[in-house]
Amino acid sequence: MEFINIALPKGRLGEKVYRLFAEAGYPCPSILEENRKLVFENKEKGVRYFWVKPTDVGIYVERAAADIGIAGKDILLEYKPEVYELADLGVGRCRMCVAGKKGVHDSRENTLRVATKFPHIAKAYYSSLSREIDIIKLHGSIELAPLLGLSDVIVDIVETGKTLLENDLEVKDTIVPISARLIANKVSYKFKHKEITALCQRVDALCQEGKL
Ligand code: PRP
Repeated sequence: MEFINIALPKGRLGEKVYRLFAEAGYPCPSILEENRKLVFENKEKGVRYFWVKPTDVGIYVERAAADIGIAGKDILLEYKPEVYELADLGVGRCRMCVAGKKGVHDSRENTLRVATKFPHIAKAYYSSLSREIDIIKLHGSIELAPLLGLSDVIVDIVETGKTLLENDLEVKDTIVPISARLIANKVSYKFKHKEITALCQRVDALCQEGKL
């Protein structure tokens, strides 16, 4: 039997998704053991799981190192991997937003300085508004940028809104809603079609039942 190779995003979302896959009939108990292994397989069920940095899931799937994977819509919009998007798992819900200091509005007089981990999403958004911007690419703690005067606004993920609130920032605009997607390599989807669609249907059915 052919294995289905699955790239899971390391972290809370990936663990939640693994539990769903296990319930859907693709368990691999060794994955829950406390160790630093990155590859886990269940020969009987024909699945092999990898823990991957969330931003890298698209690359693994696009290049067929994994047949399928779980990636946030933010990652898919930013990196645009050549993959199929098979299902919206409806989990990991948040939104991509423009945020800035409370009460400060864009006068449109100067080039807007935008700090973000998502330069492509930010560029596409401001280009649709014909607004000239200067991108400041950061890798984390984006909210610091407007507080320290490094940028005028940020383009970032807002989940509960707590980080903005606690730093006296506010949402200025919502760019796009985000959730986790099941993606597949295009060649694998053709050659492991039966296995991948069976998995997708089982997982999707559990999602519809609200199991996530
Ligand atoms: C993300 C995001 C925000 C925060 C939003 O950061 O970049 O900072 O979560 O969540 P909230 O609306 O629930 O407060 P993450 O935790 O990924 O850390 P980072 O600083 O490394 O980006």
